[in-house]
This record gives sequence, structure tokens and C-alpha cells, in this order.
Amino acid sequence: MTDAVALKLEGIARRFGATRVLDGVDLSIEAGERHALIGPNGAGKSTVFNIIGGTLRPDRGTVWLDGVDVTGRSPHRLARAGLGRSFQTTRVFPRLTVLENLRCAAWCGVMATQGARGAAARLSQWALLWRRSREIDERAERVLAELELEHAARHPAGTLEYGAQRRLDLGVAVARGARMLLLDEPTAGMNRDEAARTVEWLRAMTAGKTLLAIEHDMDAVFALADRVSVLVQGRILASGTPLEVAADQRVREAYLGVLPGGQTS
Ligand SMILES: Nc1ncnc2c1ncn2[C@@H]1O[C@H](COP(=O)(O)OP(=O)(O)OP(=O)(O)O)[C@@H](O)[C@H]1O
Ligand SMILES: [Mg+2]
Repeated sequence: MTDAVALKLEGIARRFGATRVLDGVDLSIEAGERHALIGPNGAGKSTVFNIIGGTLRPDRGTVWLDGVDVTGRSPHRLARAGLGRSFQTTRVFPRLTVLENLRCAAWCGVMATQGARGAAARLSQWALLWRRSREIDERAERVLAELELEHAARHPAGTLEYGAQRRLDLGVAVARGARMLLLDEPTAGMNRDEAARTVEWLRAMTAGKTLLAIEHDMDAVFALADRVSVLVQGRILASGTPLEVAADQRVREAYLGVLPGGQTS
């Protein structure tokens, strides 16, 4: 882990009508860190993700990605800057095969790093694509293996079962070249075994990347996260290692009976 800050939120505020949902959120995540964002239902966690991901503007505050102010940038531009996001509903091309989905993503990622602009550059882009097609194939095959979806490489993505589709969704972000990943409840709807396997797999898949995950399952938080932040009533109530946060009296009050072992304060 380096000590460079990958993502920083400063004073993020947002209201919906008369309801103040976020009220000055400050958060700092180092490059290479796996960070969990937890908090009660309706605390504003997904709203924080929508603001980072560029689908919602904050009323106040700044989002910094790798030291650059990206507040209000479109999701498309954020993807070019290395931000990947998985959604509650998967966003893969259902009729393309699993491998084709990954190839498309790898192609986007490779072309996005070229920076060629305008019609004059287009012809050379094709030449470049031709030259780099091996790299694109290799990247897609590598991610396919990491996803443990080789057996389904030629199946239409729409025919995968739910868990595999969610994995592919994340794989698309990785194949695209994301360095910073936002995952909203990656283990939602899974039983204990599936959730544990998903966490193992997430750890491997995100090695060397920066991860911010919203997670309700405290076992998953402990297994996955280097650090945890707790969002309560529109602000970060506490940040620290999972153990520090679990021992924090104010957090225990916000989470009565929900901590591992079910202790209450
Ligand atoms: N686009 C929107 N328009 C109006 N209200 C919204 C909008 N998005 C979120 N809200 C409200 O903001 C509050 C926070 O919602 P958010 O989805 O961010 O919470 P959350 O912490 O992700 O909750 P959960 O754990 O249930 O997923 C809720 O009261 C929600 O109804
Ligand atoms: Mg949510």
C-alpha cells in the first residue's frame, strides 16, 4: 500500500427536497486500500456512491480522485479516469457471450488510454487496435480466468445465474482498467457460504486496486476491509480498522446487536 490518497471526499452535502441526506461527509481512502462503508438503512450510503460515480451532483463539497477535483464529472469521464462501479442490477450485454463482454471492456480500456482525438486520429486508431488486439484478447482472457468463468466463456451473458452475472459485471470494470472500484452491497442476497466465497474472490480480484464497498454483512466487512467508515445521519461517525470501529461505543449504539457475536452495548 502506498500513502497516496486515491479518493477523498470533502464536506459533501446533499438534500432531497426538505430532507438533508448528506450533511458534510469527509472521507479519505488510500491507494490500494480496501474500505467498507457501513451505516443503517437510509443513512445515505448509495447517495454517496451516486455522487462519487457522477450520477448525482452534491449541493456542496468536493470529490477528489487521484488528487484531481472530479466533482460533477460524467460517469463516462470518470471511467476514463480509472473509476469502475458495479450496480445493483448488472450492466452487461446479455446477448454477447461472457468473453465478448470482457473483450469489449478491454477494448474500451485500451482505446481510452490512447488519448487520440478527432477524425484524423481515427484511421491510426484502427491500426493501433489491430496492433493491440493481442493485448486486448490477453486482458479479456486473464479477467475471465480471475472470474472463474472459463466454463461459460461462450455462453450469452444473459444466461448466467445471478451471482455469476454480478461477477461478470465487476469483471467488466476490471477489464476496462479500473483502478478504483465502487461496489454497492456485493454480497446482497447471498447465503453465508456464497457471501464468504464472494469475499475471498473479491480480495483476489481487487489486489493492487482501491476498493470502496458498501456492505451490510459484518462478517464480510471483517473479512474484506482494511478500514471501515460508518455513515450515520449524513456524516461519518467513525473511521478505523474493523476492530477499532467495532469497539467504538457510538458505533455500537448505532448498530445494537448487529456486530459479530451479536453483542449489544
Ligand atoms: N433520487 C432521490 N430522490 C429522493 N430521495 C432520495 C433519492 N435517493 C435517495 N433518496 C433518499 O435519501 C435517503 C438515503 O438513501 P440511500 O439510498 O442513499 O441510503 P442507503 O444508506 O444506501 O440505504 P440502504 O442501506 O437501505 O441501501 C433515503 O431516505 C432515500 O429515500
Ligand atoms: Mg443503498
